[in-house]
Amino acid sequence: MTRFHDVTARCFDSSAMPTVTMVGGGQLARMTHQAAIALGQRLRVLAENPDDPAAQVTPDVVFGSHTDLAALRKAAIGSHALTFDHEHVPTEYLEALVAEGVNVQPPPSALIYAQDKLAMRAKLAELEVPIPAFVPVTTPQDAVRFGAEHGWPIVLKAVRGGYDGRGVWMPESAEAASEIVAERLAQGVPLLAEAKVPLRRELSAMVARSPFGQAAAWPVVETVQRDGQCAVVIAPAPDLSEETATAAEALALDLARSLGVVGAMAVELFETTDGAILVNELAMRPHNSGHWGMDGARTGQFEQHLRAVLDYPLGDTAPLAPVTVMANILGAPQAPDMSMDERLHHLFARMPKARVHLYGKGERPARKIGHVNVLGDEVAEVREKAERAAHWMSHAIWTDGWNPHE
Ligand SMILES: Nc1ncnc2c1ncn2[C@@H]1O[C@H](COP(=O)(O)OP(=O)(O)O)[C@@H](O)[C@H]1O
Ligand SMILES: [Mg+2]
Repeated sequence: MTRFHDVTARCFDSSAMPTVTMVGGGQLARMTHQAAIALGQRLRVLAENPDDPAAQVTPDVVFGSHTDLAALRKAAIGSHALTFDHEHVPTEYLEALVAEGVNVQPPPSALIYAQDKLAMRAKLAELEVPIPAFVPVTTPQDAVRFGAEHGWPIVLKAVRGGYDGRGVWMPESAEAASEIVAERLAQGVPLLAEAKVPLRRELSAMVARSPFGQAAAWPVVETVQRDGQCAVVIAPAPDLSEETATAAEALALDLARSLGVVGAMAVELFETTDGAILVNELAMRPHNSGHWGMDGARTGQFEQHLRAVLDYPLGDTAPLAPVTVMANILGAPQAPDMSMDERLHHLFARMPKARVHLYGKGERPARKIGHVNVLGDEVAEVREKAERAAHWMSHAIWTDGWNPHE
């Protein structure tokens, strides 16, 4: 018999479930917050502005800059783990936080290889991972010499701070390279030069790893870049041999372990015209190439990242359909007159199965303002639908000529 005093009613105590702090208030933090809600957790964000995508949705916002140690400390107090929606926090600040007892995940000793492209290239070379030829650039002559040796064009990259192709230049000649290098070095931007790889396509191998050492991989995906930024992702990568897919997955898992990564990591890959796989770069956070998994995998990257930084068992990464295509909604050259709300109405009327994710961002040319996921059976058909939907959402134009008012 149950006696009354045995029944202990417990009020909800939010402190009993973990709080994770994410540095940066962009769309990655916004979507991580969405996953945190489902797990009963709290995502605190360090954001610069109230209208940042994540600051709009979480009640737990610390306003400040990721380059201000005091703001980072304030955001870290009382949280179970501190993690990132970008890689721009100065390494010495992260080391200071670790010394003060903050659980920084991924740890700065791993994160450095996602922050600093030169450190990343040097480390991958040391680990004998296949990468393009590269050289540090400290004078215009370094770039000119590299171009003479490897042929033009070459690829120049900012060592730190680049994203979405900002911080990548492909000069065709010694003169053009000298000009870029002189200009950037004068602005205090350290550079490296890389051989321009003849690409068949780009791939991404995403994994997640926990402090306990558990790791999980999603299927290798194809990423389609336009103007240096990701536009479309096809999961799994079509026509990828079993052998290459397994090798790419193993490479990503090995890297996560040997670098001591905690959380989600994307390994951006080049598939060369002769079928070789080279590593482009590493991202240690949720990544655009993993957005498909929000709707297309049993466990998406945002939930997996939270599980990993909190050392929970990781979730099943199995795909839910033969093909998922993610198409980014990229701001049109000129924002359409039709409101986003009306565009969404029309999209849903025409494509009830499309999964739409909007980031609460203003429309600017080529800006990532959302994405669409479409699941299905056949790559060409699913891709056409996803791209048509994304183009509609950014331009209010159906690429197949369908007029919603006819
Ligand atoms: N060595 C290279 N050879 C050919 N294309 C490259 C090379 N490096 C970069 N790219 C192209 O530029 C894009 C952006 O470069 P990346 O280093 O990934 O910069 P970001 O940090 O902006 O993503 C790549 O996805 C690829 O399309
Ligand atoms: Mg990249």
